[in-house]
This record gives sequence, C-alpha cells and structure tokens, in this order.
Amino acid sequence: MDKSMNCSLALMNTFGMKVSAGCVVEYDSIEELVEALGDGSLPRPFLHIGGGSNLLFTGDFPGTVLHSRIRFIQPVRLQDHVLVRVGSGVLWDDLCAWASDHSLWGLENLSLIPGEVGAAAVQNIGAYGVEAADVIETVECYDIKEKTMVSFKAAECGYSYRSSRFKEDWKGRYIVTAVSIRLTSDYSPRLEYGNIRSALTDRYGSFEVESGILTPSRLRDTVIAIRRDKLPDPSVMGSAGSFFRNPVVGREVYENVCRIYGGEAPHYDLPEGVKIPAAWLIDQCGWKGFSEGNAGVYEKQALVIVNRNGKASPDEILSLERRIVESVAARFGITLIPEVEHI
Ligand code: EPU
Repeated sequence: MDKSMNCSLALMNTFGMKVSAGCVVEYDSIEELVEALGDGSLPRPFLHIGGGSNLLFTGDFPGTVLHSRIRFIQPVRLQDHVLVRVGSGVLWDDLCAWASDHSLWGLENLSLIPGEVGAAAVQNIGAYGVEAADVIETVECYDIKEKTMVSFKAAECGYSYRSSRFKEDWKGRYIVTAVSIRLTSDYSPRLEYGNIRSALTDRYGSFEVESGILTPSRLRDTVIAIRRDKLPDPSVMGSAGSFFRNPVVGREVYENVCRIYGGEAPHYDLPEGVKIPAAWLIDQCGWKGFSEGNAGVYEKQALVIVNRNGKASPDEILSLERRIVESVAARFGITLIPEVEHI
C-alpha cells in the first residue's frame, strides 16, 4: 500500500486538472483496502477513483482518494463460454487486449476505452453498440456498511445507460474489488453500430463468417482505429471522453428539434423516448473546434470538452460547460446533463 499526504492528482485524472488531495492511498489487496478504511488518521471523506477518466475535479479534494491496484486476470473455461475474473485495478483495455489475444469474443467494441475494470462495472461503460453490462456476470464488492464482502449478479446491479445502482441508491456503500466477465470463443461479432461494417470492409474487404477473416483481434483493431480517428488520446490532450449524456426526450420535443433544424435530426427510437446525440445538438450550436483560454471543444467530436494544452483550470472547463448547456437549451429547449462526474 502506498500512502501520500497532500498529493497532486494531475496524473490521476485524464482531464489533467492540476488539483490535489488531502491524501492518496493506493492499495494492493482487500485487506489493505479494509485497513485504509479503518485508519482514523486519514482525512475524510473518502473518494474512490479508477483511472480518473470520467471525472472533473472542480477544485482541491480535502479527503482521501482511494485507488485499487488489485490486478489479476483469472479465466475459467466452462461448457459454452469462458468466465474471466478480473481485479478492479486492471486497465480496461488490458483486459480487452487479453481477450482478443486469446481469441475470445465479447470485448472488441469496448476496446481503448480509458479507465479500469472496477469503474467500468460502476458506470456501465459502452461503445459501438455494446456496454459492460452485456458481458458482466458478477461484481464482487467490499460492503463498507456491513464490513463484509458481497457478490452481486449483473441483474441485481440495475444497469442502464452509463449507470448502475453503484452510482445511484448504492452510492458510497460498496467498493468493487473484482468483476467476472463472460466471453466466448464462438463467432459473435457485434457489427450493428454506425460505421463498423464499412470500416471493416475498408480494412479487410469481405469479412463474413465463412471467410474466417473476422477475428476478435481484427475487430478490436478496427474499433481502435475508429476511436483514434474521432476521440482525443488522453495522454496527448486532456479530456474525460463524452462530457454529456445523450438526452432521451419525448416525441414532441424531438419533433420540435426537427422543426427548429428544418429537417430530420439524427435520433434513435427507444421504448422510453427518442435519443438525440448530444454531439449533434452541440455541433448545431457551432461549438465544434471552439477554444476559449485553455479549454475547448474537440475538432472531431463535439461531445468532448478538452484541456487543450494541459493548463486549463476547473473554472475554465465549468464555464465552457455552462455556456454549451445554455446555448443548447436556448436553441433546442433541451437541457444537457453531464456524463462526467463532478467532484
Ligand atoms: N455527431 C455530430 N457532430 C459530432 C459528432 C457526432 O453531429 O461532432 C452526430 C452524428 O449524427 C453521429 C451521432 O452524433 O451519428 C453520434 O455520434 P457518435 O457515433 O460519435 O456517438 P456519440 O453518441 O457522440 C457515444 C458515446 C461514446 C462512444 C460512441 C460510440 C455517450 C455519451 N457517448 O457517443 O462514448 O464512444 O457513442 O459508441 O453515450 C464516452 O462515454 O466517453 C464515449 C466516448
């Protein structure tokens, strides 16, 4: 276990906010986690983070930041699938790479998402038509209240679009220590989303099952190429990925958006309403590529607020966020909700 008092968080959040914490504790086992939680000398409150890839620190954090270094990948081959038990501190993309190196399907579309396995199970990360909840079997947690280990089936975790009970009514109660993921060696690519098929055709020509061309590694490589083309690399330009959630609105609100736009706005029909890409709404308001001071909106994806040169302050990001929300509300009557958690 490593414990650092008055510690910079600059390298622990992909937005690159230069803020600090009263203390940072990195633990390597459940025993060390329990020890840290019971240590009365550590500043309160506790904040548990993963890769810090979906956070905006809005200022210095006075308490103790906890971070898991529980790292293992333990596969068990079952009758028709492989169950992989993974420590919460494993980098999500290391798990995706491990799966495709072992020719196992399930995680290709989630390749290159920044962050760690524990946080992935909390926020139900998703991309290209797949989300973590599709492959999670069980989530093992330390229960802070009862001081005991518990294991939840995915169905108990209340997974929804970028959310779960861990972010809602269970918030602050459980710390994820390991996640079991269900993978399979049976050919099962997920190709419905956006330009995945055309990107595969561009790279490999015909790729259907009979050809044997499409492998988990090739689909992973294709997804990585699409992401690299559209999204900033956090090691080069600070960001927390999509800053806002895609709003789901009533049909009359969607029709109003079309009226204002003067044509059919992009959308996905869902049982609960109409989902409109937040990127499109922001783009329509002219924000793509915008810069103000050290903050800006990424040139290739209007949903991503960036820390252009590593020098943006939390206030610069917050002010840009406010202006974007106001302009989308003024133009389309829709209030965007951030996807990034504000601390
Ligand atoms: N669009 C624009 N302007 C832009 C970008 C997109 O008008 O600058 C429109 C286009 O109509 C496009 C649509 O928005 O068809 C959707 O764009 P995209 O496919 O890039 O997806 P997204 O809805 O903007 C979501 C996730 C991303 C994920 C992609 C791909 C959310 C909040 N974001 O973005 O997740 O990578 O789909 O699956 O759901 C993240 O969570 O950090 C993240 C990057």
